[in-house]
Amino acid sequence: MKYEAEINKRKTFAIISHPDAGKTTLTEKFLLFGGAIQTAGAVKSNKIKKHATSDFMEIERQRGISVATSVMTFEYKDKLINLLDTPGHKDFAEDTYRTLTAVDSVILVVDSVNGVEEQTRKLMEVCRMRDTPVIVFINKMDRDGKLPFDLLEEIEKELSIQLHPMTWPINNGKNFKGVYNLFDKNLLLFTANTKANDEDTVHIDNLNDPVLDQKVGDKDAAQLREDVELIDGVHGQLITEDYLAGKTAPVFFGSAINNFGVKELLDTFIRIAPVPLCRETSAREVCPGEDKLSGFVFKIHANLDPKHRDRIAFMRICSGKFERNTYYHHVRLDKDVRFSNPYSFLAREKDIINEAYPGDVVGLFDTGNFKIGDTLTEGEDFFFTGIPSFSPEIFKEVINKDPMKTKQLEKGLLQLTDEGVAQLFTQHGGNRKIIGCVGDLQFEVIQYRLLHEYGASVQFNSLAFYKACWITSDDKKKLEDFIRFKTANVVVDKDGHLVYLAQSQWFLNTEIANNPDIQFHFSSEIHK
Ligand code: G4P
Repeated sequence: MKYEAEINKRKTFAIISHPDAGKTTLTEKFLLFGGAIQTAGAVKSNKIKKHATSDFMEIERQRGISVATSVMTFEYKDKLINLLDTPGHKDFAEDTYRTLTAVDSVILVVDSVNGVEEQTRKLMEVCRMRDTPVIVFINKMDRDGKLPFDLLEEIEKELSIQLHPMTWPINNGKNFKGVYNLFDKNLLLFTANTKANDEDTVHIDNLNDPVLDQKVGDKDAAQLREDVELIDGVHGQLITEDYLAGKTAPVFFGSAINNFGVKELLDTFIRIAPVPLCRETSAREVCPGEDKLSGFVFKIHANLDPKHRDRIAFMRICSGKFERNTYYHHVRLDKDVRFSNPYSFLAREKDIINEAYPGDVVGLFDTGNFKIGDTLTEGEDFFFTGIPSFSPEIFKEVINKDPMKTKQLEKGLLQLTDEGVAQLFTQHGGNRKIIGCVGDLQFEVIQYRLLHEYGASVQFNSLAFYKACWITSDDKKKLEDFIRFKTANVVVDKDGHLVYLAQSQWFLNTEIANNPDIQFHFSSEIHK
């Protein structure tokens, strides 16, 4: 295998969670361990807070930060770790789902007080679709939360994944005393704001060691013995293959803010998390060790400076070696492109890189050549499959308030929707433009950016549609008839694919029942 050492060094992953579970805090602690930052507080939260509505300056500021923190690369114990950030706000869930296609594994943070929450469920669904290996970190053990066995049961049931505890907590909240490491057979005693050295670790060869009673008290020691016996009986040893297949998730308990339990998590992560693996494409399976470069764009970000229209396309490298100033084949446009200033994301310095390997993400300056899902190769024609384009749920018609700026508006709409923040539909056989988003906040962002980046002023009119379904049929005549009868509901997406907009679930069910020769697709993959 070519570049074997480079590939085996790399771990590319994302931390996912419901907002406020502790993703940003955990990210920061990881970066501290990796030496990528020196002080806590250096990573600004890249989330638009739950309550953000119209604070555009805030959105702008956050966008700026989120370019910088979109990918954080750091080294830890001879491994090169690429941590891909995912926005927390649910209106940006699509962006998160696509980022998950670019990682090889995830760490899921669950708040011990709140347990499984809405976003936890949705994000895990995406992971399960791809069998992404998952490690669970149960955070905020310093707070009075749910009981550990209850939490495990809830997570297993709600997220349909088998759990395997790697550490086990001794109480929680005010009485939280620490965790017992079931793998290393250590007792890690809780102190707030741990500096992450080993002085609080007590090695105990077996749980009957009286040191345990001395350290945590008779009652808690007895409880721990009982718990561990129960866990051992049910779980045994972690089977790494089951973790790698996405069937079993190892679980750690800790407190990110106190840097407690984080090192255990990171040490296990670098030991068991997968290195870059082979990936499916429209033509064949592509493996990281192949000679020739391939990669795909999973995120596009507008440049911070609104005066410059250029953007940064984030490309995940899947095979071969990426080199600066080398021509690569842009499959969709069927043209060769090269990059003189590819951007790397080593957290210490944002820098131009000369080469990158499978698992890495490079930032490519783009003047409008890229769309989400685009593939670069060294000549072969294929697309990476499985990059989802989710069915929007809120639809609004775009009303141009300044006809002098029609050209700018069209350009702006095309470019912004290339970034994947929203989907653009055009009335079938007409000119009406409709934007579909997953969340309301997106419309505010689009309106603001159209004005500030393109000088185009728009207003949105709400439309009473409920879901977009891509429609296909082998029977051309049936499809034409359907379009004729449903003119008001049929639009085309940017690639010219037909889309049916349903007013309600009832209408949708009726159309599905009445049109057995037409297929309705809900979450179209960008490349099938
Ligand atoms: P997120 O990125 O998942 O949205 O969560 P974030 O890390 O921002 O954490 C959300 C809140 O939870 C923060 O408090 C953070 O300090 C707190 N937190 C994180 N880990 C722990 C933990 O182990 N124990 C406890 N008790 N709290 C924790 P905040 O008040 O919302 O923000 P801030 O003012 O502290 O920044």
